[in-house]
Amino acid sequence: MTVQSSVPLVFMSGIDKIFFENYANRSVDFELGRGEVHALLGENGAGKTTLMNVLAGIYTPDAGKIYIEGREARFASPKDAIASGIGMVHQHFMLIPALTVWENMILGMDGVPFVIDKRVVAEKIMELSERYSLPVDPEAVVLALSIGERQRVELLKMLYRGARVLILDEPTSVLTPQETLDFFSTLRKMAAAGHGIVLISHKIEEILSIAGRMTVLRKGKCVGTVESSQAGRETLAGMMMGRPVENARKKKSARPGGTALSCGKLSARGDRDSRTLRDISFELREGEILGLAGVAGNAQDELCETLAGLRIPDSGEIILRGENVAGMGPRDFIERGVSYIPVDRKGTGLVPNMNMRENIALKRYWRKPAACGRFMLDWDFLDDLSRSLADAYGIQAIPAGSPVRVLSGGNLQKLMLARELSSKPSVILAMHPVWGLDIGAAEFVRERILEEREKGAGILLVSDDLDELFEMSDRIMVIFGGRIMGIADDPGDVSKERIGLMMAGMAV
Ligand SMILES: Nc1ncnc2c1ncn2[C@@H]1O[C@H](COP(=O)(O)OP(=O)(O)OP(=O)(O)O)[C@@H](O)[C@H]1O
Ligand SMILES: [Mg+2]
Repeated sequence: MTVQSSVPLVFMSGIDKIFFENYANRSVDFELGRGEVHALLGENGAGKTTLMNVLAGIYTPDAGKIYIEGREARFASPKDAIASGIGMVHQHFMLIPALTVWENMILGMDGVPFVIDKRVVAEKIMELSERYSLPVDPEAVVLALSIGERQRVELLKMLYRGARVLILDEPTSVLTPQETLDFFSTLRKMAAAGHGIVLISHKIEEILSIAGRMTVLRKGKCVGTVESSQAGRETLAGMMMGRPVENARKKKSARPGGTALSCGKLSARGDRDSRTLRDISFELREGEILGLAGVAGNAQDELCETLAGLRIPDSGEIILRGENVAGMGPRDFIERGVSYIPVDRKGTGLVPNMNMRENIALKRYWRKPAACGRFMLDWDFLDDLSRSLADAYGIQAIPAGSPVRVLSGGNLQKLMLARELSSKPSVILAMHPVWGLDIGAAEFVRERILEEREKGAGILLVSDDLDELFEMSDRIMVIFGGRIMGIADDPGDVSKERIGLMMAGMAV
C-alpha cells in the first residue's frame, strides 16, 4: 500500500555518525515515502536508533544530507525536526510519569499560551484519539497507565504536534499480542492518511505483516532496501547477520529438585486495584522454569517486585532457603540468591549514568570478591568481570569509564542479563528477558537461562508470548487481576487456547 509521488517525504543521503572514532552510521541512504510503513532492521548496535536520532534532530550527522519533501533540512535540535513534521517515539519512553496525559502533550511545546485552556487541549486530544483509534483519558496520570496506554500517549503527542513522519523505535517489544494488532491497525490508518512511518523492530514476522519496504543496517552500513513481498525470514536474517540463522538449542527434560522459593497467601498492594496481589501461593522448584502467563498489567510486575524484596507484602509468606523473608529488604533477597530482571531497564535495572563496572558492582559491592575491606572495592576484579561478561554476552565495547547510556538498547539489556545471570542465582525472576534483543542474542540468552536451570536455579519466566512460554517452560502458571488462575503441570497437555482463556480471567 505504498503511495509514492516522485519526491519522497524523507530522503537521507550518505549519512555518517561517529562516536568515539567508531562509525555508528556510515554512508547510509534511507528513503521514506508518503503513506508508507518502512521497517528498519538490524542486529543490536547496528545503528538503527542512531540513524533515526539523526532524522529527529537529536544528533547532528558528521556527513550527509537530509531532504524533507525534496528540500534540504538542517536540524540544530529536535525542535527544528518537529517543526518539519518529524516525530519520534523512543525505545525508552520519555513521558513525565507524575503529570497527566494532557499536560504531557503540551509539555515543552512552543507557542503554549500563559493561561492554558485545558478543554481546548483535551478536545484536540479526543479528536485525534478517535480519528486514529487511540483511546486515552486526557485526565489520567501517566504513572497509572499501562505500557500500552503510555505508548498511545506518545503517539498522540507526536500527532498533536503535527508530525507527518512518525518514527517508532521498537514499539511492539513492550506490547501484548492483542495490543500489537490494535497498534498495527492504527499505523495502517496513519499511513492511509498520508503519514510516513518508520518502524524499528526485531520481530521479523510482525514486520513482514505490516511493512511495505524494509531497510537493513549491518555494523552501521546500509545493506539494502527490499520490498516485503520479496523478502522472507531467512533472507532478512541473512542480510542482518551476514550469515544464516542457527537454531541448535535442544531443551533437556527437567530434573526439578527441592524448593527454590515458595510463597503462601501472599498479598500486596499494587499501583492500581487490578494489580493488587491477592492470596498468591505457589512453589518454584530448583531446576525448573515456571512460566508466568498473563496479559501485561495483571500484577506481574508487582509479583516480581514482591519476590525480589522491592515491595513489602501486606500479608503472607515468602520462603527462601527455609526462612520466611517476607518484609525483608532487597539486599536480603539478593544474599539469598535472588536475581531480578525487571522490565524497566533504565530505572530499576541499570543506572544509565554509571559505567559498566559500576553497574556490575551494584549487586555485589558489599560482598567478597567485589568488596575488599570494609569501604573498598576491588576495581581490578570488577574490571576483569566486566570484560569477561562483555565477551561472553557480546556486549559492544565502549571506552572504559563511559556511562552505559551510550550503549544501544539491546546492549543495555545484555548487560543487565549478564549481571543477573552471572551471580550464581538460585532464583531468577526474569521479566521478558529477550525484549529488544536481536535474533542471535535472544537465542544466546535463552540458552543461558536453560543452563542456569540445568545448574539447579528455579526460574520464574514472565512473558506474554505464549509461543516462548510453551517452548521454554516446564510448568505454566496463569495470573489474572492479581490472582493465580491455575498451574499447568505439563504444558504438553494443555492448549494455548486454554491458557489464553485463563489469561482473560476465565476459570477453565
Ligand atoms: N550517545 C552515544 N554516545 C556514544 N555511542 C553511541 C551513542 N549512541 C549510540 N552509540 C553507539 O552507536 C552504535 C549504534 O547504536 P544504536 O543505538 O544506533 O544501535 P541499534 O541498531 O539501535 O541497536 P539496538 O537494537 O540494540 O537498539 C553503538 O555502538 C552504540 O554504542
Ligand atoms: Mg536501538
